[in-house]
Parts: sequence; structure tokens; C-alpha cells
Amino acid sequence: MSTTPNAVISAWSERKGPLILTTVDTNGTPNSIYATCTKMLDDGSIVVADNYFKKTQENILAGSKGSILFITNDGKAYQVKGKIEYIKEGPIFDDMKSWNPAKHPGHAAAVLRVEEAYSGAEKLS
Ligand SMILES: Cc1cc2nc3c(=O)[nH]c(=O)nc-3n(C[C@H](O)[C@H](O)[C@H](O)COP(=O)(O)O)c2cc1C
Repeated sequence: MSTTPNAVISAWSERKGPLILTTVDTNGTPNSIYATCTKMLDDGSIVVADNYFKKTQENILAGSKGSILFITNDGKAYQVKGKIEYIKEGPIFDDMKSWNPAKHPGHAAAVLRVEEAYSGAEKLS
């Protein structure tokens, strides 16, 4: 379950381009990737399809929290942070398979459960 503010849910439908998913390794070293194969669930959690994760997968499986940064068409930035689940079976995985383009492998669904949200420096939740 996520605590995603309405402002983020509205902004999500106006987002432009790939989002940026950042995780950290066990030494605290950050790793950021671009992702386009994404979806917001009804509860505001954000799913990123693991098509080509390497370091990102290692970090998630080692227990990393994550942040997701995206920008809207009118140039407003939103960042959410929280725990990440790595899901390889069940309804969320099956749903990911339904929207992830068939040309990509869709190894797993990485689900960021939103605990904090920001727009720039402004804390939204
Ligand atoms: C524009 C763009 C979109 C991408 N979208 C995805 C995606 O949705 N899922 C994915 O697994 N990799 C995606 N990639 C690849 C990742 O950004 C990254 O290269 C991959 O996760 C390996 O990096 P890592 O070892 O840091 O995890 C995308 C790359 C680019 C340039």
C-alpha cells in the first residue's frame, strides 16, 4: 500500500519521457536508470518492468529503498521514495506482462511503495 498524494497521481498522467529510478547498494553508492516501461497502480504504487536491470536488480534484492523522479509536460518535477518489492509471480506480475511491450523480456515487476513524495523541495507527503 502506498501513500501517494493526489498531486502526484495527477502529475503522473501528465509525465513526459522516461522516469529515473535510483537505488543504492549496501555501501550506499547510488545507481540511477531510465525507465519507460512503467505504470502507476490504483493505490499509487509505481511499477517498473525489469527488462534489463543488472545493478538495479542487485540493489533491490539486497533490500534497497528507491526513488523515482519524473517531470511533467509543463516542466514540474516529482519525486517519490519508498521500499521496492521485486515481484516474479501473481497479479501484479501478470498485469506487468499485459502492458510491457512483448519485445522486452519482463523478468519481474519492481514496485515502489510510496512513503514520501516531493515536488522540488516541497514535501507533499
Ligand atoms: C530511455 C530508456 C528507457 C529504458 N527503460 C527501461 C525499462 O523500462 N526497464 C528496464 O529494465 N530497463 C530500461 N532501460 C535500461 C535501463 O536504463 C538500464 O540500462 C538497465 O537497467 C541496466 O542498468 P543497471 O545495471 O544500472 O540496472 C531503459 C533505458 C533507456 C535509455
